[in-house]
Amino acid sequence: MNIQDELQATIDVLVQKGKGILAADESSPTIAKRFKAIDVESTEENRRAYRSLILSTPGLGEFISGVILFEETLGQRTDDDITIPELCTKQGIVPGIKVDAGKLPLANSPGDEITQGLDGLELRLKGYKEQGARFAKWRDVYNISETTPGRLAIEANAEVLARYAAICQSQGIVPIVEPEVLIDGDHSLSRCAEVSEAVFHEVFHALHRHHVVLEHMLLKPNMMVPGKQHSQKASPDEVAAQTVRVLRRTVPAAVPSINFLSGGLTPEQSTAYLNAMNQMNPQPWELTFSYGRALQEPALQAWKGDSINNAQQTQSALYKRAKLNGAARYGKYMDAMESEN
Ligand code: 13P
Repeated sequence: MNIQDELQATIDVLVQKGKGILAADESSPTIAKRFKAIDVESTEENRRAYRSLILSTPGLGEFISGVILFEETLGQRTDDDITIPELCTKQGIVPGIKVDAGKLPLANSPGDEITQGLDGLELRLKGYKEQGARFAKWRDVYNISETTPGRLAIEANAEVLARYAAICQSQGIVPIVEPEVLIDGDHSLSRCAEVSEAVFHEVFHALHRHHVVLEHMLLKPNMMVPGKQHSQKASPDEVAAQTVRVLRRTVPAAVPSINFLSGGLTPEQSTAYLNAMNQMNPQPWELTFSYGRALQEPALQAWKGDSINNAQQTQSALYKRAKLNGAARYGKYMDAMESEN
């Protein structure tokens, strides 16, 4: 298969009605934080046991088309002694891999950060592909304050994101392009929209400059929401209207799918906001999810480090959130569904 056909085949499986992506690619410090919240030590065995348990949830593939894994997980084996990517494939789920190497302060731009990980990326991708990965993810972050993000951060991050995407496509790996404008702070919804519009605009400018094929990538943006410490809350309809407005201004129709991150929203908010967007007029792209916390939080709470006694509750908790987000893909989610089993 030539590279374009290979990329299209992966897009065809990732972008399906009623489905979205599960982000299970927490880096070592992040998974340690999530485990600490349930009093579980982050050992390699605990990480393997947890991820192998959630990914073997019966029927997960009904609502999940792809899963983003962390490098360590790609090489781990399940209790049935198959690799985790093999388990995903058995579930009808495409395995992907987080390839950025985290963020650093951006020199000469106080308060701004830059994502690293381009060095040796091409070679690493060849290895990940041999291990079964068919798509990748790279996350840039933007902090909102009175002075950030600055122009330098917006331009420098867009440039690395586009270089990453171009390298992925050259290797037959579909890139998920993730610019995340953070929810932290007391800014308003309109400030989030203003910053996100500038960020997304610059990202697509850079993608164009690097000849990235828009049909063969996915965008993973934040939704337009007020800062966590802001005094006013927004309704699902407001979030949906503002988010779609910014995306329509910045994202070409050639991009097949927009898969939102949850970014610190609750599981219920993440589902309700996505649902509200899918109740609006049809958009040029699919609007779906690539949630980490919003899919996994209830499962982690149910697991509590015990894969024997809590296995079924853990899997049911994940299945439920996947199913509700599957309903939100069609704009058919309702609050009342939260109390159903
Ligand atoms: P959250 O949905 O928890 O924000 O995670 C998604 C993700 O992959 C962040 O990079």
